[in-house]
Amino acid sequence: MASKGFFSSFDDVWMLDGVRTPMVDYCGALGHISPTDLGIKAARAVLQRAGVSAGHIGSVITGNMAPGDFDQFFLPRHIGLYAGVPVQVPAIMAQRICGTGFELFRQAGEHIQGGACEAALVVGTESMTRNPIAAFDHRTGFKLGAPVGFKDYMWEALKDPAAGINMIQTAENLATKYGITREQVDEFASLSFTRAVAAQQSGFHAGEIVPVVTEKFELEGYQPRGIRLQGKVTEVAQDTHPRISPADVLGKLKSVYPGGVQTGGNSSALVDAAAAAVVASGAYVKDWARAHGKKPLARVVAATAVGVPPEIMGIGPAPAIRLLLERTGLTLDQIGRFEINEAQGAQTIAVERELGLDRNKLNVNGGAIALGHPLAATGVRLTITLARELQRAGLRFGIASACVGGGQGIALLLENPDGI
Ligand SMILES: CC(C)(COP(=O)(O)OP(=O)(O)OC[C@H]1O[C@@H](n2cnc3c(N)ncnc32)[C@H](O)[C@@H]1OP(=O)(O)O)[C@@H](O)C(=O)NCCC(=O)NCCS
Repeated sequence: MASKGFFSSFDDVWMLDGVRTPMVDYCGALGHISPTDLGIKAARAVLQRAGVSAGHIGSVITGNMAPGDFDQFFLPRHIGLYAGVPVQVPAIMAQRICGTGFELFRQAGEHIQGGACEAALVVGTESMTRNPIAAFDHRTGFKLGAPVGFKDYMWEALKDPAAGINMIQTAENLATKYGITREQVDEFASLSFTRAVAAQQSGFHAGEIVPVVTEKFELEGYQPRGIRLQGKVTEVAQDTHPRISPADVLGKLKSVYPGGVQTGGNSSALVDAAAAAVVASGAYVKDWARAHGKKPLARVVAATAVGVPPEIMGIGPAPAIRLLLERTGLTLDQIGRFEINEAQGAQTIAVERELGLDRNKLNVNGGAIALGHPLAATGVRLTITLARELQRAGLRFGIASACVGGGQGIALLLENPDGI
């Protein structure tokens, strides 16, 4: 029988806690910090917040897309070591582009379910600023008259050569396919901004943010490293992209492509950030809850990953969510909240229409258009936000999902055991 994609369900796997750095517009106050250091920051913060000893971590699962420094090969290992995880514990980097963060939870679930470890440290980190200006052709030198190959890695990496188009154009394809107008995309984007600003003002987002400060990360017997903020900045504590953006103001922005619906105002913002979570078995959670008098953020129930045609990659969450519902036996009505990454406004509206989602349940604290999309950190951020929103609203089930360049979708089902 042809595969509909991956489905993994987890009997007794929990997210204990999760935190993230602020998401800061690229070329801003976090722009000079490597993704490894942002990741170490988030990893240390989540262990501290959860009250979990780094010595209890049995697997370090990290994600990062763009190389943000020459030591990127060592990113998973350095995040684990400088977070204090014992030297014998292995670390890996997983990659599912914009769905990477969810993939980390999926792998953590499989590690724990399979008995490889009791607790896993999950860290997604991305510096969009530090995307390199790179060349791949010059190892053997520069030939006279031959093209010089240096290009902007971020711009080039958003282009899928199989489909021959970039990610914005995949959203334009969805706009055409689903008859989505520029006005509808701007209206959707405006709501994302309004909700993000409201959630910022109510303190909701601050509840998952760890402020970034100048600090040293020591590791006995090895070189210290750390974060040094620049200029007069002493602390970075807030997301920088959300701002009230009326649809008529967004409507005046130039579309990226002539006649297209996507603009700089209704596409995901480019930001720098890291997010981290601790995922553990039910047995671990029992002892931890008793010792600390705490409750975990959510149960990680199941995950799916599927493929879709590259030229409409943004529709990926629709079949991923359908498969999740089909295999868990839940109905759309039983899902209290959805967090779907807003890679592009038309892309999210296409998913919303395909599934018949209620917008009142979707990205209720704002999405990536307003808050930003730090590729590998996004899925971790969305999972933390979803778990906290389920708790805030007293709801039981929630699904977080993202489309993936190249044509994939990934989705994660969470349960708040106290919800109804
Ligand atoms: C769409 C995209 C190309 C725009 O990049 P950009 O041109 O650098 O965008 P900017 O932030 O400069 O915004 C363009 C303009 O819109 C304005 N703008 C953006 N958001 C706005 C808002 N909320 N309100 C008012 N104006 C806004 C900017 O001020 C800027 O104006 P200017 O040209 O007068 O300076 C880029 O954001 C992008 O590629 N995003 C999607 C990333 C992506 O696809 N990720 C992977 C998913 S698969």
